[in-house]
Amino acid sequence: MCGIIGAVAPTDVVPTLLEGLHRLEYRGYDSAGLALIDEHGEIVRRRQPGKVATLEQAVLTEGLQARIGIAHTRWATHGVPSESNAHPHLSHGIALVHNGIIENYVRLREELAAKGYRFESDTDTEVVAHLLHEIRGGVPDLRNTLIEAQNRLEGAYALVAMDVREPDRLVAVRMGCPMAVGLGQQATFVASDVAALLPWAQDFLFLDDGEVAEIRSPGDGAPACRVSDRRGHPVSRTPIHSLLSPDAAERGSYPHFMLKEIHEQPRAVSESLEQRISREHVLSAALGPKAVGILPRVQAVSLVACGSSFHAALLARNWIERLAGFPVSVEVASEYRYREVAVPDGCLFIAISQSGETADTLAALRRAKTLPYVGQLSICNVPESAMMRESPLTLLTRAGPEIGVASTKAFVTQLAVLLLLSLILAKARNRLDPVAEQEAVQELHHLPLLVEEMLGLDAEVAGLAQDLAAYDHALFIARGDHYPIALEGALKLKEISYIHAESCPAGELKHGPLALIDPRMAVIALQPTNEISSKLHSNLEVIRARGGHLYLLTDPGYDAQATKARKIVTLPKAPSTLLSPIAYTIPLQLLAYHVAILRGTDVDQPRNLAKSVTVE
Ligand code: M6R
Repeated sequence: MCGIIGAVAPTDVVPTLLEGLHRLEYRGYDSAGLALIDEHGEIVRRRQPGKVATLEQAVLTEGLQARIGIAHTRWATHGVPSESNAHPHLSHGIALVHNGIIENYVRLREELAAKGYRFESDTDTEVVAHLLHEIRGGVPDLRNTLIEAQNRLEGAYALVAMDVREPDRLVAVRMGCPMAVGLGQQATFVASDVAALLPWAQDFLFLDDGEVAEIRSPGDGAPACRVSDRRGHPVSRTPIHSLLSPDAAERGSYPHFMLKEIHEQPRAVSESLEQRISREHVLSAALGPKAVGILPRVQAVSLVACGSSFHAALLARNWIERLAGFPVSVEVASEYRYREVAVPDGCLFIAISQSGETADTLAALRRAKTLPYVGQLSICNVPESAMMRESPLTLLTRAGPEIGVASTKAFVTQLAVLLLLSLILAKARNRLDPVAEQEAVQELHHLPLLVEEMLGLDAEVAGLAQDLAAYDHALFIARGDHYPIALEGALKLKEISYIHAESCPAGELKHGPLALIDPRMAVIALQPTNEISSKLHSNLEVIRARGGHLYLLTDPGYDAQATKARKIVTLPKAPSTLLSPIAYTIPLQLLAYHVAILRGTDVDQPRNLAKSVTVE
């Protein structure tokens, strides 16, 4: 999705804006631009389709300098990626960058065109720039302009504007899209993402929906940031100190963020479980003090999420139903949010999201807060995210910033805390005796080591990738707890290698997908040794009998040679059936990574995708 950074300082902000744009690249974008107010009090704007590096080269060649500016990476929604559609957009001395979607932009555009405004782009953002100019004529300053503009705008947006008549300040507003103000020593910043500002600021103010921030240079006499509500009343907000180090969002010596994040998983899992399990017990306090009164009342669970987080929810359903014995429903957030939901008695709503800003999941949480659940819990990886701030109950995955668009460490830490949660729910229902609890806790303690062991399969998986990279179609099959992992494996492969990849439960093959089996389709089967191994074995026979090209991920207990698979990767045996699906996730991440490298795609920023999907 789009990214915003703005800065105001007593010195040149151009290098900071450019570096900030690079730090926003991971979100996914197709063009970039910046606008400055120069020493003559005029707006200078530069925009380019394509990479930030192209814009950077142009700006540095010209030697542009300024003490105030806004910059943007655009992920096209209205209008193709082009210079004229790239942000910032201008209107008579006002420059504007925007994340989100203005839903009533067609009507506004007609109204503004009738008043003589001329449009140079196809975007909804240019409409807002002209709207701000129109409003600015009747109010004293830009801050009041943004307050007033909210009464005319429908949709989700984060806006940052500057005006040549007030060249000492930026004004920002948030409605449904993230926005943080960074209070640095040398400059004051605004950005859609804290990660963009970590080299220069550790203290942040987070805007709530409808709030407007007026941002000035540190030491210019006025407060660096004044926040007001949507009626213009001052809001007192205490800065939050971020514990993230600037290099938490850097690649280090790894060629790609995705590979770095895959290798960070043992530590990420360990930190996500830290202080949430003792030597022998799962600690219900992990869910916070508010959960104490709620847990004994839970009789059902509703899990809602998107993408990889949805796959984590599918596996959690199996765990919760098995361990706690509750009925569990799982739904993608974009469907849940518009459906007439019948809430069962004693139902706990759980939203799962890496970013905590995904528009559909956030909307689902907000909807759930109006319905008669016993509680609403959000599981997120970003502590300052909207979902974490708005959710009555929270459970943080401590994976650290995930920059690669393909979710890896966030997904695996979601699984770790969902397994923990399943055990906590089971214990609250007296379905976990002390021996079973102790065994399960020992398994959780072993999980980081297990993930580390799976990383050792890299060379073997790279060999499998050599074969897979030659196909244009891939089908991932599995049964039981491993089916959500097969779905995740297919999603990883398709999003970063662009190979058409799907997944189906192996038992469903005969109901349709079997028609697809031919030598152009690679079939990747997850075959752990468990009580339903023989069922999957029969499915594999059926594929082989039809000339299917079979690739197998299995473990030492299974007679893999009998399948005549073209390649077999044998995983170390997982210590339990509970951990096995987490173990199988790691080679599938590595497989997608190696295939993408062989096919020469952009691993960290795959085409058309965004890291944090803050629009519908
Ligand atoms: O931040 P969230 O977990 O809410 O994001 C949900 C999906 O957009 C995300 O998992 C997406 O599917 C990833 N690119 C998968 O790798």
